[in-house]
Amino acid sequence: MRILSGIQPTGRFHWGNYFGAIQQYIALQDNEQAFYFIADLHALTTVRDPKQLAQNTTDAALDLLALGLDPAKATLFRQSDVPEVSELMWLLMTVTQHSLLEKCHAYKDKVAKGIAADAGLFTYPVLMAADILLYDSDVVPVGVDQVQHVEVTRDIAQRINSLYNGEFLHLPNARVMESTAKVPGLDGEKMSKSYNNTIEIFETAKSLRKKIMSIKTDSTPVEAPKNPETCPVFTLYKLFATQEQQDALAARYRAGGMGYGEAKQTLYDAAFNHFAPARERREKWESQPADLERVLADGAKKARAKGQQVLQRVRDAMGLGQRLAGT
Ligand code: ADP
Ligand code: TRP
Repeated sequence: MRILSGIQPTGRFHWGNYFGAIQQYIALQDNEQAFYFIADLHALTTVRDPKQLAQNTTDAALDLLALGLDPAKATLFRQSDVPEVSELMWLLMTVTQHSLLEKCHAYKDKVAKGIAADAGLFTYPVLMAADILLYDSDVVPVGVDQVQHVEVTRDIAQRINSLYNGEFLHLPNARVMESTAKVPGLDGEKMSKSYNNTIEIFETAKSLRKKIMSIKTDSTPVEAPKNPETCPVFTLYKLFATQEQQDALAARYRAGGMGYGEAKQTLYDAAFNHFAPARERREKWESQPADLERVLADGAKKARAKGQQVLQRVRDAMGLGQRLAGT
């Protein structure tokens, strides 16, 4: 069974990305054949600064490796290192109905917000379909917001199969990652880059402390009992703490006599320690850029070997035949 997922390098990863997605990708690498890529072609629809895009892509790779993605188990690559994906995208575009893409929420939401839609934003789901179909992926772990795109992928694959009369493309299934409820940000709303309320996984100690101290809390006085269940500091603490540790802090909230500052300090210690081994691993990878490039090059090589077979299948089905040797 092949698991595949992609993550966009649109900025540094935050706690929401980690607990909502990355942690689960990494857990899956132990049991299945896993392909994970950094979706730099998708990020082009929003990141227009070339240096920034390159930096984001490197940071994304470093973050994933630091957090435990093991290149001996999973195949990690940059989307743009596999040119076959762009070619497959065009082939898929020729059978994709405009009306199918018009229904996609991600596109509709952006248009509703007044964001001018480029063709790249509109056809984004077709590139995502190519990402998935190019490797005969079986399972695609994604957040709820991406399930519709996996449905679109199935539609497109079925259309190729029925128009050209054969099982050329393998139908994938979405696996919704919902074990972690949404991670709140500094303002208590969902943590998201778009809301500017994130805590990045690899903040410096100083910036981490400053951010945690700025988490919005109510004005209950120090002496008064407090409700842990409605406090974002406690919700975040739960991500890092054992059940016993959670019960202990909850009891201190309810007893009164503890200010939010103390709860924040407890959260700070837990979070800093949690990511300490990853921070060390990140520094090691960062000091060995040639090793990082080798991991990405090996990943792309493996991904291309599979992708070329599938692309050839589709080219044959559609009447294009063999690609010229050496391309
Ligand atoms: P952002 O909202 O910061 O732009 P993305 O949309 O790039 O983040 O999210 C990448 C992945 O991280 C998705 O799978 C998404 O479901 C998950 N994710 C992002 N924010 C959160 C959050 N606050 N809580 C749980 N999961 C999240
Ligand atoms: N669109 C996904 C997101 O924003 C990222 C992505 C691109 C992806 N291609 C993919 C996810 C293929 C799964 C499979 O989160």
